[in-house]
Amino acid sequence: MCGIVGYIGKKNATEVVLNGLQRVEYRGYDSTGIAFIKNKSIQIYKKSGRLTQLLSVVQPDDNITNVAIGHTRWATHGIPNDSNAHPHSDNHNNIAVVHNGIIENYRNIKTMLLQKGYNFSSDTDSEVLAVFISSIYDEQINKDITEATRLALAKVQGTFGLLVISKIEPNKIVCARRGSPLILGIGEDDNEFIVASDQTAIVDYTKKVIFIEDDEMVVISNDGYYLKTLDNIAIKTKETSLIEFELGQLEKGGFEHFMLKEIFEQPETIMNATRGRMIQELGEIKLGGLSDFTDILTNMKRIIIVACGTSWHSALIGEYLIESLARLPVEVEYASEFRYRNAPLLDTDLVIAISQSGETADTLEAIREVKRQGVPVIGIVNVVGSTIARETNAGVYLHAGPEIGVASTKAFTSQVMVLLLLSIHLGLLHNKLSSNKAKKLIAEINKLPLQINKILSNKDKIKDIAIQLASSPNVLYLGRGLGYPIAMEGALKLKEISYLHSEGMPAAEMKHGPIALIDKNMPVIVVAMGEQDNKIWSNVEEIRTRGGRIILIDNEGNSAGRVNKEDIIIEVPRSVIEVSAILGVIPLQLLSYYVANHLGREIDNPRNLAKAVTVE
Ligand code: F6R
Repeated sequence: MCGIVGYIGKKNATEVVLNGLQRVEYRGYDSTGIAFIKNKSIQIYKKSGRLTQLLSVVQPDDNITNVAIGHTRWATHGIPNDSNAHPHSDNHNNIAVVHNGIIENYRNIKTMLLQKGYNFSSDTDSEVLAVFISSIYDEQINKDITEATRLALAKVQGTFGLLVISKIEPNKIVCARRGSPLILGIGEDDNEFIVASDQTAIVDYTKKVIFIEDDEMVVISNDGYYLKTLDNIAIKTKETSLIEFELGQLEKGGFEHFMLKEIFEQPETIMNATRGRMIQELGEIKLGGLSDFTDILTNMKRIIIVACGTSWHSALIGEYLIESLARLPVEVEYASEFRYRNAPLLDTDLVIAISQSGETADTLEAIREVKRQGVPVIGIVNVVGSTIARETNAGVYLHAGPEIGVASTKAFTSQVMVLLLLSIHLGLLHNKLSSNKAKKLIAEINKLPLQINKILSNKDKIKDIAIQLASSPNVLYLGRGLGYPIAMEGALKLKEISYLHSEGMPAAEMKHGPIALIDKNMPVIVVAMGEQDNKIWSNVEEIRTRGGRIILIDNEGNSAGRVNKEDIIIEVPRSVIEVSAILGVIPLQLLSYYVANHLGREIDNPRNLAKAVTVE
């Protein structure tokens, strides 16, 4: 989704900002732009399309400046064209703004500004904000761009991560946040600053950061920075943090795409998710982030998991695992639906929010609703220091490292891993799981990195299958038990990056309607994995009888004697059922990747998608 970068300091700001925009490309965007002050005037360059389009009209070396702001836009109001791209300026070309989020009352403000004689050259809510700030500045007796910004923001409804520069006060950037992430990087000698919506744009220059909170402003200049609230109260002290990942993690490391690199990182990311958290000899799980939460974990009677997309699929697996290992009732909710359903929560509930990015607006709003009802909420999050990580009462990090490919892969398997650890922990706390069973599960978990490597070494076979699959406009994914969320996740991966139509569903549901779609042109991917074995093989027969093509994901040796010669089978190493979900999804990730690659899709930045969906 939209990305913001701003820089002030001794380096060439144009270069720093363009580099930062390249770092946030992975979030998904459809236009880009940059603004800086040169020869005492605001220069704005913006282009629809990829960052390379922008680089064809603006080169860092031709535009040496110390203050610049830039933006990657993911269209919400107004189609993705040059004029709707950010930065936006006011009618006098005095200021430039970049804005993430949505100004919900922009129509009313625009009408008021039109009546006052102001003009607009785009369809965006963000230009309305720029003109609104400037109109307040025009009317001020004591002209002050920071105060004009603050007064404008006091009147807007909606969300913003906002940067403003002005040619009248050229050595500063005014920044503000409500509901859209903003992080301040503090560079050399504490008088160089890079502000961005994403840590990846900052880490090239500094690891020292301050997380700006909702309803806060920060003003940065060559002389330093100061913070205040949007209510004009000075913020005297603010904790600094260190970015935890390394620059190398933002490179492709020899892989053709980030997605492929991230698929191949999974033996390691799975280990990172478990490191220091399992005590094999005792059959115990230690989740440091939940250590103060033991009473709540022991006394709660029901769990509700909120998440979106891929994280929602891991939640479905979590439901299965917690119910079977801890015998606690679990409900899984789409965060967006839960947020507005006014669902009654009980004092004995615990809510778990799952999010890779930690910035998903739907999930964040669900968390706020839960907290409003006074119910504890814990987070399972990848991005350290993200909004969800900070707003939940406690949590467990995935430690999967930055996930750049828009389609989530390693974060998904790490989410499932953490949910498995949590399920074992809850099972032990609630006396529903013996330490012997816990020891066995830990032993199986320890085998995972080697088992994942074995699946990855089968990539050429999966690639061949993908090439056959790529000519099918529709693909069905079926599974039972734990195979069902894996089927859903496989279908989501395929549609996201290949644009083929695919649907995942419980295998038994097929006969209640979708079976009408089955004919010789319909490939059906069946995630068997030993789940309700006889039943799933009946479903396979139902497909065969109607001429459907079977691609089977199954445990090694499980299908012997049952496959027909037309069936395609991808085998994965055997494990206990609780652990096998992680193994079952990996061939499906590879399959989607190779289909999309064969079709020449933009795998790391698929059309219309955003990595962090920061609007509701
Ligand atoms: C799919 C994908 C999305 C995200 C969803 C939630 O590959 O990545 O479906 O899972 O947008 O995002 P997070 O997990 O960041 O809250």
